[in-house]
Amino acid sequence: MSGGVFMSGMLSSPRTLFGATQSADALAAGGGAQNIIIDTDPGVDDAFALLLAMRSSELKVVAVTAVAGNVPLSLTLPNALRLVEIAGRQDIPVAGGASSPLIRKLVTAAYAHGNNGLAGVEFPPARLQPVKEPASDLICRMVRENARNICIVGIGPLTNIALALRQDPEIGSMVSSIVLMGGSLSGGNVTPAAEFNFYVDPEAASIVFSSGIPIRMVGLDVTRKVQLTARHVQALQAGKGRVSEAAARIAEAVMKMHRGADSERGPNLHDPLAVSSLIRPDILIFEDYQIEIETTGSITAGESVGWKHGPARHSAPMETAGVTEGPNDFLFRANAKVATGVDSEKFFELLISRLTTDGI
Ligand code: BDR
Ligand code: CA
Repeated sequence: MSGGVFMSGMLSSPRTLFGATQSADALAAGGGAQNIIIDTDPGVDDAFALLLAMRSSELKVVAVTAVAGNVPLSLTLPNALRLVEIAGRQDIPVAGGASSPLIRKLVTAAYAHGNNGLAGVEFPPARLQPVKEPASDLICRMVRENARNICIVGIGPLTNIALALRQDPEIGSMVSSIVLMGGSLSGGNVTPAAEFNFYVDPEAASIVFSSGIPIRMVGLDVTRKVQLTARHVQALQAGKGRVSEAAARIAEAVMKMHRGADSERGPNLHDPLAVSSLIRPDILIFEDYQIEIETTGSITAGESVGWKHGPARHSAPMETAGVTEGPNDFLFRANAKVATGVDSEKFFELLISRLTTDGI
């Protein structure tokens, strides 16, 4: 496979970035809630992202799809069902998706999320059952039913989304936008090059970035700046109701797991930051980039390489490549808005208030 994965029939150039997406400004003006599908691998920070989305009237969560990532699908799917039930949102269909990346062996992150994916916190098994439809089928169907009026929020490896795009390439022009947690322009968290979600399934990430769908990439450049602290845990503990209680238990457990019981600072809350950008656009600052995903490197696979402007240039051709002219340039074209600035205080205000007020 070459440096990128390309799909026949897909758009090769991005549509106007976010031109067709209903913004939070439109919502403020009375435009109604934004339809989203959340594709997730819960996952401690996924749990916060799901709860935040389900507790925010600006968003209409039309489905949750589970993927293997932080822990295997046999855990991420039940975790997703539990979280939907804790939020009292049994109206939301939950589908199971890919149990492994497109062409690689699954690498998990139980060291960061606990063996059960929720920092070891045990909740009663959910009564809610997953729908029979596989995640990629559900994504294709719902996108077609809500053409140009649906955003996909990808907060795990992008396998399910890539499968959906491969299954039905026409949906690429019907998805309003993809907001994803993944990637980095400033080094990885699994290897020096790659962030976890892209590391796990670089080929899927490459398909998504080649799709022409307007993308907002919320990567480590900003998520490293939102760190859970003891003060946040106390605020969650002070809340009333099932959602704040569940969030507080997970937060307390993950703080202990990561830094020891006495420490003030815990892990980064990557995934809810991505969701927050759909609720309060003033939390993140985005800049246009052309992003390509490294898929061939034996030590860099999953790296997101970003060009801010032209000239855009790939690696020098190999001696064996035959006669080439010039230094392997290609046309610069921004395909993503990348988050480069964050107001972390505003983010935590939003997160804590949504998880603790009007408790279920
Ligand atoms: C991402 O990887 C996972 O461990 C988190 O849930 C987040 O989606 C951060 O690199
Ligand atoms: Ca995740």
